[in-house]
Amino acid sequence: MELYEAICKRTSVRKYKQEAVNKDILEKLVDAGRRAPSARAVEPWEFVIVNEKTVLEKLSAVAPNGSFMKDAAAVIAIFSHQTKYYLEDGCAAIQNILLAVADVGLGACWVAGDKKDYVVEVGNMLGVPQEIKLVGLIALGWPAEDKKQAKNRSLEDVIHWETFGNKK
Ligand SMILES: Cc1cc2nc3c(=O)[nH]c(=O)nc-3n(C[C@H](O)[C@H](O)[C@H](O)COP(=O)(O)O)c2cc1C
Repeated sequence: MELYEAICKRTSVRKYKQEAVNKDILEKLVDAGRRAPSARAVEPWEFVIVNEKTVLEKLSAVAPNGSFMKDAAAVIAIFSHQTKYYLEDGCAAIQNILLAVADVGLGACWVAGDKKDYVVEVGNMLGVPQEIKLVGLIALGWPAEDKKQAKNRSLEDVIHWETFGNKK
């Protein structure tokens, strides 16, 4: 699949088939994440892959905004050492993973991390050292819904040439 096609296809999928995603694919997704740009090339990220049902259920319970994680084939939790740009770097890795997800035909949804009060609890649950912070979670699986990409703001609306007021 062409990159632009994957970009246009990517959408948040929150319903998954009860079918496993194999280890090679999960590793490929993390491989896509680790290839993201990072400020000063520090690569501050750590990726914890969870596919044990009981842990997925616990994650759903602590993060009600990601309650669908319990039915996901896996969750990739993206953590970052607390460098100056830990959040930007972690988010770049997440977006790489979401595009790789679209490329292989999986469905996924970004579940907020960094600003949530469950940040420490999720870290403890997954045995992550205190100084490494949760950036976000990605629930994923084979899609059980045929979702089209959300209607985004139009190109005309968001584009500006040279200065904000110049639309042409
Ligand atoms: C930083 C961030 C946090 C998000 N957190 C959640 C979340 O906690 N739960 C959820 O269901 N979706 C979450 N999303 C997904 C957004 O709701 C989704 O991207 C948005 O509705 C646009 O839909 P689309 O991804 O299909 O284009 C998050 C997205 C981002 C970028």
